[in-house]
Amino acid sequence: MSVAETATETAVEPDIATESATATESATATEFAAATEFATETESESDTAPEQASRRRAQFHPLNISSVRHLTDDSIEVTFEVPSAYASAYGYAPGQYIAIRTSVAGEDVRRSYSICQAPVRGELKVAIKRDLGGLFSTWAVDHLAPGMELEVMSPEGRFTSQTDAATFAAATHFVGIAAGSGITPMMALIESTLRASPANQFSLVYSNRTAMDTMFVDELADLKDRYPSRLALYHVLTRERRSSELLSGRLDAAKFREILGTLIRPSDIDEWFICGPFDLVQLCRDTLVDLGVEVSAIRYELFTTGRPDRPTGQSGRPVEPTAGEAVHTISFTLDGTTATVTSPVHSNESILNAALRVRGDVPFACAGGVCGTCRAVVTSGTVDMVENYALEPEELARGYVLTCQAVPTSDAVSVTYDA
Ligand SMILES: Cc1cc2nc3c(=O)[nH]c(=O)nc-3n(C[C@H](O)[C@H](O)[C@H](O)COP(=O)(O)OP(=O)(O)OC[C@H]3O[C@@H](n4cnc5c(N)ncnc54)[C@H](O)[C@@H]3O)c2cc1C
Ligand code: FES
Repeated sequence: MSVAETATETAVEPDIATESATATESATATEFAAATEFATETESESDTAPEQASRRRAQFHPLNISSVRHLTDDSIEVTFEVPSAYASAYGYAPGQYIAIRTSVAGEDVRRSYSICQAPVRGELKVAIKRDLGGLFSTWAVDHLAPGMELEVMSPEGRFTSQTDAATFAAATHFVGIAAGSGITPMMALIESTLRASPANQFSLVYSNRTAMDTMFVDELADLKDRYPSRLALYHVLTRERRSSELLSGRLDAAKFREILGTLIRPSDIDEWFICGPFDLVQLCRDTLVDLGVEVSAIRYELFTTGRPDRPTGQSGRPVEPTAGEAVHTISFTLDGTTATVTSPVHSNESILNAALRVRGDVPFACAGGVCGTCRAVVTSGTVDMVENYALEPEELARGYVLTCQAVPTSDAVSVTYDA
């Protein structure tokens, strides 16, 4: 089904009726456990309770690619096999991401990708969109094939529902706002939410340039067929005319307000999930807060800072202290072991960069201040954080910093990744 078809269907039925579950929509207890971040270890297909998932240390393992499927000319879906020996390490909550580590053209790269399906035992799916001029995504879209093996980090991230389990299993209404590849975590969130309870609803506002660019268009149409009254799809196309003026053109503040005024009632919504470019995320957040939505009900995920001068993913900058020069002394604790490294003052080096010189397993993924994987608590000394798109104010108040962005400002600094 095309974007135009699915959107027309939604346009004539913009309101989502709450109705009793049909046979196909009702979720069994097992489906519920398998599909949600609230899963517990019973007989469910789910492998890891979410609390475990969020506390465990991210680790890399080699995973085999079982299939690669083109979603659009510029994007692929990649499925990894998860052997049962790694099952608990790769349990995840819908909305989380993994990181892939490999070497492209002789360069070590590490990139993050959101998991694009509700939890399923034995496999992980991500979708990669070619970023023009991007090193890894260009290589991945052209070269990844079944049978190849890549180093994959266990799932991380906090772009997950905070709604309590009882409410989630009873009745919730979530909204996703996605642009381009920002749809990937939504695919996991939509499916798991709708499977969890026959009264749950999900409304998705999904912006793309054209119908041809739109990732997961058929899968969304299938979900709409499965949950016709509980999933509302609003496809916005910025470079193609739609029959509805409201769903054509750039998703700016005026259009977003109009969508909220006509298609989605903010007061009915339990949680908001926004994933897309920095400007869109900011615009949606500001508009929602202006309309009285609590900040605590809004989650967002950034894939990049949107700053061409600071592309994410750069790490491992070579820095060599020379004898006699002024240095910062950095101590860091990871998995109960403390190590110390010195960093030349003039190098303006991040704590992560310095720590990687002495321990290769220091956690990080984007190295751009957006994902939060490298967070640690400063236990003594002071630092300056260059960028922070990942930590919430209360985490900052508790002493958390992003070590990929934190540069020491005192002679000695100690941090712990074990907090
Ligand atoms: C939590 C998280 C989840 C993510 N999930 C997904 C997902 O599900 N799907 C997805 O497709 N992506 C996702 N991303 C983005 C992904 O990790 C990569 O950033 C993206 O694929 C680009 O990687 P790359 O190696 O191709 O580009 P890079 O080589 O890192 O380049 C990024 C951009 O910067 C430009 N650039 C590179 N070097 C310079 C320079 N020196 N000066 C100026 N510009 C430069 C490139 O042209 C390109 O446009 C996610 C990111 C995060 C943090
Ligand atoms: S590694 Fe992503 S914020 Fe530091």
